[in-house]
Amino acid sequence: MQKLVIEGGKRLRGEVVLQGSKNSSLPIMAGAILTGGECVLENCPILTDIYSASRILNNLGCRCSFSGNTAVIDSSGANCCEIPEKLMREMRSSIMFMGAMLGRMGECTVSIPGGCELGSRPIDMHLSAMKKMGADIREENGRIICKMTSGKPRGAKISLPFPSVGATENIILCAVLAEGETVINNSAREPEIEDLCRFLQKCGAEIKGAGESRIVIRGREKLHGCEYRIMPDRIACATYLSMAVSAGGEIILKNCCIPETEPFLSVLEQTGCSLYAKNDNIYLRSSLRPKAVRDRIRTMPHPGFPTDAQAVLMAVLACADGTSVFEENIFDCRYRHADELVKMGADIQVMGKIAVVKGVERLHGANVEATDLRGGASLVCGALSAEGTTVIEGLNHIDRGYEKIERAVGLLGGNIKRV
Ligand code: EPZ
Repeated sequence: MQKLVIEGGKRLRGEVVLQGSKNSSLPIMAGAILTGGECVLENCPILTDIYSASRILNNLGCRCSFSGNTAVIDSSGANCCEIPEKLMREMRSSIMFMGAMLGRMGECTVSIPGGCELGSRPIDMHLSAMKKMGADIREENGRIICKMTSGKPRGAKISLPFPSVGATENIILCAVLAEGETVINNSAREPEIEDLCRFLQKCGAEIKGAGESRIVIRGREKLHGCEYRIMPDRIACATYLSMAVSAGGEIILKNCCIPETEPFLSVLEQTGCSLYAKNDNIYLRSSLRPKAVRDRIRTMPHPGFPTDAQAVLMAVLACADGTSVFEENIFDCRYRHADELVKMGADIQVMGKIAVVKGVERLHGANVEATDLRGGASLVCGALSAEGTTVIEGLNHIDRGYEKIERAVGLLGGNIKRV
């Protein structure tokens, strides 16, 4: 089992080019199935989740290969519409292939997806939307067997009870080749959904309202392949900025998506760091101990404060001057990193969806374990500011979302090695 060993207490200084977005790449890779042609995806991060998606594509009869950060997907040979349970369990986004397979083949067999354990993560909204678009869905021995009764999806009016990112993406994927018009009310507005829509539009899809809470899709007979550049990863951006505020220092992040990261940046600025953005670069300087954030930090669907950045900001505020309060509104179990930060000397009380973080003067090194992706990143963040050595296990979680994290942190001046 690999571990990260981090010597903390060193100010960061350096620059790094941000990776492409994991949460954009995954639905876009699923979307490549719909084209029946060749898609060239640039700026695709090299991550275990991306490899899981490529295994699914290969299993379905597509050809998926990588050259550096460029993925080439040829879906002309797609001939299978079943994803084995083992592949479904590797990540949450495996469910995204359901909409794409129903769009292309009119049927699919999947199972409950895996992914980070953040509490119950049902797929009821996905299933009820697919039913509205004409799918007959039954469960048999843990397998979910879906078949479009008329052979292909038909447009429908779907109102989501909550703006679920995954359900919105799945409906879009299913609708672009559907018969007629699909309207999604209360759709999620995350930037990664806009990225998926831009990709599909480049493949010939007709989509209006991406990034808004009402999306209208007019189904097309056929799509075609394209070349597309994946957007930068706004959560990796939040993570590396948090590290620099936590440890102190001066860093430059290149290739950021600044407007999309704004809901995080506006809260991070309240810790007293100075942020300057020019072109696609963010310059951050943080010299003093961070200040606590006065207003409650409420995680909300975009453009609210992102739940994916809650853990890394908590590591920053664990040694801030004063008390900060988090309210986690998206997932019911997304504070598992708090116990590990406590092992490093943090003072954090969790009560249901609330976490009260009383800033301590300094964290100290400890042996800790990542239990989910962003929680793992928060431990790296805490370790960089801590006095002494921290050993982090559970790297399989971190490797799902951060491309060569030890290289990026090293370029920023952190003392980190993978052993
Ligand atoms: C996406 O997950 C992201 N994953 C998550 O990022 C992110 O935390 C989340 O959106 C919220 O922004 C990917 O894009 C691959 P949701 P998703 O459907 O689509 C409930 C990371 O760290 N819900 O918006 O699974 C659900 O349980 C990951 O990169 C239902 O009840 O999120 C949750 O409480 C972790 N029924 C809430 O909605 C459903 O059918 C939001 O989930 C679907 C969702």
